[in-house]
This record gives sequence, C-alpha cells and structure tokens, in this order.
Amino acid sequence: MKDFFKKIPEQAVRIIVLFAVLALVLLVVRQFILPLELKDPALQKNSAMEREAAKEVKYAGAQSCGQCHEKEPEMKKSGYHRDLSCESCHGAAQKHVDNPTDVKPTSPKKRDYCSYCHNYNSSRPTGFPQINPDTHNPRKPCITCHNPHNPKPPKTPRSCAACHAEIERTKATSYHALIECTVCHSTPEKHKTSPRTVTPTKPDKREFCGKCHAKGSGGKGMPTVDMATHGEKYVCWQCHYPHMLGGI
Ligand code: HEC
Ligand code: HEC
Ligand code: HEC
Ligand code: HEC
Ligand code: HEC
Ligand code: HEC
Ligand code: HEC
Ligand code: HEC
Repeated sequence: MKDFFKKIPEQAVRIIVLFAVLALVLLVVRQFILPLELKDPALQKNSAMEREAAKEVKYAGAQSCGQCHEKEPEMKKSGYHRDLSCESCHGAAQKHVDNPTDVKPTSPKKRDYCSYCHNYNSSRPTGFPQINPDTHNPRKPCITCHNPHNPKPPKTPRSCAACHAEIERTKATSYHALIECTVCHSTPEKHKTSPRTVTPTKPDKREFCGKCHAKGSGGKGMPTVDMATHGEKYVCWQCHYPHMLGGI
C-alpha cells in the first residue's frame, strides 16, 4: 500500500491536494457564507412573487372595460377588430378604471396609428387587409370612414389588391402581369365581405395552365411546352410560382 502511494508522482499529489482544498472552500462558502435565498428554491419563488406583485398594475385587462362601457365591446365583438384588446388602442388603462372621471385614456385618432398594422408590408399573412396610406384616401383620418370598433369598409372593396397587396405587386412584375386574378381564380363576390368563409377556387390540374401553354394552343408568340414530357410528374406550380414568373 505504502509503495502504491510512493509511486504517485509528486505533481499529481499537488493537484489532488489543490482539488481537495477547492472542494473544502466550496463547501464552506455554500454552507456558511451564501445567503439562504440563493440556496432554497422555495424562498427564491417567494421573493420573486413579492417583487412582481409589488409592481404597479398598468393594464386592466380585456374583460374590465365591459363593466362600464356597453356600446364599444358590443360593437367590437362581431367586427373585424374582435381579436384586438381595447387597451392595445387606448393604452394601459388601470388608472382610468380606478378613477374613471379624472383619468381618461387616450384615443388614437391619427392615421399613422392604424397604419402600424395596416400599412402594406410584404411579411404580413395572406389576406391581411393592407393599404398604401399615401394613396388610400389621404388627408382624412381613417376614423372618418372606418369605425375603429367595427371597421367595416363603407363599401365592398373593388380590387383583390385591397387584401392581397403582396400578390398583386408580385404579379405586376411577372409574365402574367396582364392576366386578371379572376382568370385563374373564380371568386364569388362574397369572398370580399367574408373572406375566410367563402374562398375562391385555385387551379388544381396541370391542364389548367395547358389551356394557354400546351403545344398547339395559345396565340402567336405564346411560349408553349410539350405537356407529355415537360415536368410531367408534377403540377406546374411546383416549379413555376404563377404570380412570379421570371427566373424559370
Ligand atoms: C368603472 C367604470 C369604467 C371602467 C371599468 C372603464 N371605464 Fe372608460 N370611462 C368611464 C367613464 C365614467 C368615462 C367618462 C365618460 C364621460 O366623461 O362622458 C369613461 C370614458 C372612457 C373613454 C373616453 C375618454 C374621453 O376622452 O372621452 C375611453 C376611450 C374609455 N373610457 C376607455 C376605457 C377602456 C379601454 C376601459 C377598459 C380598460 C375602460 N374605459 C374601463 C368608466 C369606466
Ligand atoms: C383599433 C383601435 C381601437 C380599439 C381596439 C378600441 N378602440 Fe375605442 N376608440 C378608438 C378610437 C380611434 C376612438 C376615437 C373615435 C372618435 O373620436 O370618433 C375611440 C373611442 C372610444 C371611446 C369614446 C367614445 C366617444 O363617443 O367619445 C370609448 C368609450 C372607447 N373607445 C372604448 C373602447 C372600448 C371599451 C374598447 C374595447 C371593447 C375599445 N374602445 C377598443 C380606437 C379603438
Ligand atoms: C394592432 C393591430 C391593428 C390596429 C392598430 C388596427 N387594426 Fe384594423 N385590423 C386588424 C386586424 C387583426 C383585422 C382583422 C383582419 C382579418 O380579419 O384578417 C383588422 C381589420 C380591419 C379592417 C377590415 C378589413 C376587411 O377585411 O374588410 C379595417 C377597415 C381596419 N381594420 C381599419 C382599421 C383602422 C381604421 C384602424 C385605426 C383606428 C385600425 N384598423 C387599427 C388589426 C389592427
Ligand atoms: C374617405 C374614406 C376613407 C378613409 C379616410 C380611409 N378609408 Fe379605408 N377604405 C375605404 C373604402 C371605401 C374601402 C373599400 C375598398 C376601396 O374601395 O378602396 C376601404 C378599405 C380599407 C381597407 C381594406 C380592407 C378591405 O376590406 O378592403 C383597410 C385595411 C382600410 N381601408 C384601412 C384604412 C386605414 C388604416 C385608413 C387610414 C390610414 C383608411 N382606411 C382611411 C374608405 C376610407
Ligand atoms: C376583404 C379582403 C379580401 C379581398 C378583397 C380579397 N381577398 Fe382573397 N383572401 C382574403 C383572405 C383573408 C384570405 C385567406 C383565407 C384563409 O386563409 O382562410 C384569402 C384567400 C384567397 C385565396 C386562397 C384560397 C385558398 O383556398 O387558399 C385566393 C385564391 C384569393 N383569396 C383570391 C382572391 C381574389 C382573386 C380576389 C379578388 C377578386 C380576392 N381574393 C379578394 C381576403 C380577401
Ligand atoms: C396564371 C394564373 C394565376 C393568376 C393570374 C393568379 N393566380 Fe393566384 N394562384 C394560382 C395558382 C396556380 C395558385 C396555387 C399555388 C399553390 O397551390 O402553390 C395560386 C394561389 C393563390 C393564393 C393562395 C396563397 C398563395 O400565395 O399561394 C392566393 C391568395 C392567390 N393565388 C391570389 C391571387 C391574386 C390576388 C391574384 C391577382 C393579383 C392571383 N392570385 C393571380 C394561379 C394564379
Ligand atoms: C390565360 C392564358 C394563360 C394561362 C391560363 C397561364 N398563362 Fe402562363 N403565360 C401567359 C402569357 C400571356 C405569358 C407571357 C408570354 C410573354 O409575353 O412572353 C405567360 C408566361 C408564362 C411563363 C414564362 C414563359 C417564358 O417565356 O419564360 C411561364 C413559365 C408560365 N406562363 C407558366 C404558367 C403556369 C405555370 C400557368 C398555370 C398556373 C400558366 N402559365 C397559366 C398566359 C397564360
Ligand atoms: C419539374 C419542374 C417543372 C415543371 C413541373 C414545369 N416546368 Fe415549365 N419549365 C421548367 C424549367 C426548368 C423551364 C426552363 C427550361 C426549359 O425551357 O425547359 C421551364 C420553362 C417553361 C416555359 C417556357 C418555355 C419557353 O419556350 O420559353 C413554359 C411556358 C412553361 N415552362 C410552362 C409550364 C407549364 C404550363 C407546366 C405545367 C403543365 C410546367 N411548365 C411545369 C420547369 C418545370
């Protein structure tokens, strides 16, 4: 046994001693120096809760407004803005709820506020209603025509671009620029008032594109392909996005 310890090189012994000292220091610090809160999860939870609970409550929450206001929640309930919280437009309103006559919330009456959400922006999802504020009835506040609590357009939009601005812009620079949306999508008029319940058709067969592009069909100068051999295993729009033809 003695021989065994003698065989351990001196530098290894130093390392072992070093680690032993470190471990000891660690134990002492943990046991006697660290405050209890840093060791006990229950205490940590309590103090975090105390800290958060002490913060001032700023938002009253979506349910609270209806206690005193009837008209606006009722209007909003079935309108396009049903998923917006009152306070996303009127700002944090707990102070108003505590003291309704002296503290009044602000109301965003200027055009630029609505534009935060409705400005044209290509990253917004398909069909999200977007406008170009420079051309969409400029100079008048939005709320002269749209009730903020039920922003139904005063008349049904004429163009698909009102809600599909991104596709319209993409198509405008493609080979299909001159083809109306409705050539490829038969669109019931109701789609413009209930876009999510009544949807237009979409081409579902390659023959649809073949009407114009199959060899032998189409007019003079129309680019045509042999339908039997050109990408025959796929539908055309797996390779050619129909609103954006340019690359291939
Ligand atoms: C305890 C009742 C009460 C609650 C709850 C309440 N309000 Fe009010 N609110 C009032 C009263 C009273 C007025 C003042 C009406 C007046 O002066 O004609 C008012 C006025 C307003 C106004 C108009 C301000 C102005 O300048 O004329 C807005 C906007 C408003 N409230 C928004 C809200 C929102 C948003 C909530 C929910 C977070 C809310 N209120 C919750 C009682 C309440
Ligand atoms: C999309 C933004 C938006 C949302 C969401 C919204 N409001 Fe408003 N609200 C406005 C604007 C803008 C005005 C000012 C209208 C005006 O002056 O014609 C207003 C006005 C008001 C007024 C004053 C009405 C008056 O006749 O003076 C009250 C009260 C009010 N809102 C309450 C609410 C309540 C309650 C909710 C939630 C159910 C809510 N609002 C949701 C934008 C909004
Ligand atoms: C926080 C984002 C947000 C703000 C701010 C906002 N809206 Fe909206 N708006 C929406 C959403 C979400 C819809 C519903 C879209 C849908 O149904 O796909 C909508 C729908 C609409 C529509 C109906 C579109 C249609 O499909 O016919 C109009 C008009 C409209 N808003 C006008 C306004 C006006 C005016 C204001 C300013 C008072 C405003 N919005 C502020 C998010 C917002
Ligand atoms: C002079 C009246 C008027 C004003 C001001 C106005 N709009 Fe409109 N808005 C309309 C009409 C009418 C439509 C229906 C489509 C069309 O004919 O352009 C519409 C359509 C929309 C749409 C498309 C939704 C849909 O269903 O087609 C949105 C979003 C919209 N408006 C938001 C706004 C915003 C945001 C503002 C302020 C920056 C604003 N509007 C100012 C009259 C107005
Ligand atoms: C009032 C706004 C609005 C107008 C105007 C509008 N759309 Fe839409 N459209 C939408 C919305 C929102 C969706 C998304 C529906 C969904 O995903 O549930 C949609 C979806 C579509 C789809 C996809 C349907 C599917 O099954 O995937 C097509 C195609 C379409 N619209 C074509 C058109 C054409 C063509 C026009 C013009 C003739 C038009 N839309 C006008 C809002 C509108
Ligand atoms: C040459 C035919 C053609 C034209 C013109 C056309 N589309 Fe399409 N569109 C298609 C095809 C094909 C699809 C299906 C793509 C898919 O399933 O991947 C489609 C899909 C869509 C979709 C579903 C979502 C998406 O982005 O794929 C919408 C919304 C849509 N089109 C709207 C429009 C609008 C608005 C216009 C006019 C500005 C238009 N389309 C013009 C052929 C066309
Ligand atoms: C109503 C007739 C029509 C329909 C339907 C149609 N296209 Fe086209 N397509 C055209 C016209 C017109 C051009 C532009 C020709 C030109 O000016 O060079 C074109 C151009 C193209 C080009 C570009 C060819 C080139 O020269 O590089 C492709 C790719 C294409 N279409 C694919 C499709 C696909 C995929 C579909 C089905 C979703 C489709 N087209 C449906 C009429 C049509
Ligand atoms: C597997 C991918 C793929 C599929 C599926 C596909 N294409 Fe193409 N297409 C291409 C490529 C790559 C080119 C460019 C090279 C070429 O001319 O072969 C092209 C070229 C074209 C051209 C231009 C030809 C010219 O002479 O300028 C047209 C028009 C066209 N395709 C229409 C279609 C139609 C219509 C369909 C559906 C019936 C379709 N494509 C399916 C990949 C595809």
